[in-house]
Amino acid sequence: MGETLNVALPKGRLGDKVYKLMESAGYGCPEVLSGGRKLIFESPEGTVRYFFVKPSDVAIYVERGAADVGVAGKDILLEYCPEVYELLDLGLGKCRMCVCGVPGRPMGAGKLRVATKFSKIARDYYAGLGRSVDIIHLNGSIELAPILGLSDVIVDIVETGATLRENGLGVLSEVCPISARLIANKVSYKFKYEELTELVRRLRGALEA
Ligand code: PRP
Repeated sequence: MGETLNVALPKGRLGDKVYKLMESAGYGCPEVLSGGRKLIFESPEGTVRYFFVKPSDVAIYVERGAADVGVAGKDILLEYCPEVYELLDLGLGKCRMCVCGVPGRPMGAGKLRVATKFSKIARDYYAGLGRSVDIIHLNGSIELAPILGLSDVIVDIVETGATLRENGLGVLSEVCPISARLIANKVSYKFKYEELTELVRRLRGALEA
């Protein structure tokens, strides 16, 4: 038997989908579906141990080796640049990073004020356009910023577009597409190479099925 793989999954809807995918790839652990508040689950054969963590923390667990692998959104990888290997695009949790604002509202002549939870992504995007901007870092409810005049635009995730619509905002331009990625700790990739290669092979198979 190979070594147990420690897997960090994002708590919530994405994590549930990823767990189903892991199950169909042969890494089932029925106890995960039992509900309750437990955070760690080990599969009966000892192949995998799952932990559920805050989605934005997955990359930290993997980077520091508390987990061998994990699933994190491309948004988190672009924003925090953790030192991990990105092994596979799972095609789950698809959404878009966009510049959004009040459609048709003229921008002031000064520096564009951009409110966002993703300061690095926003800075890199505008640097690529050769434009210097004033980044206003917020932690949530970003859509309020242009409505209250705190910013001209926002850089944020758009999934269904419902949040924008219900607040009278629209997409002004797309920054990049986002989806969930399987990431691995760099040391684990060396020492658990067989187990990780097998995991990727089986996940690819499950995604194609
Ligand atoms: C994200 C994002 C938008 C919303 C987009 O927020 O920041 O607010 O989802 O989804 P939609 O296009 O389907 O409406 P999240 O729910 O992660 O909460 P947050 O306000 O804490 O960022």
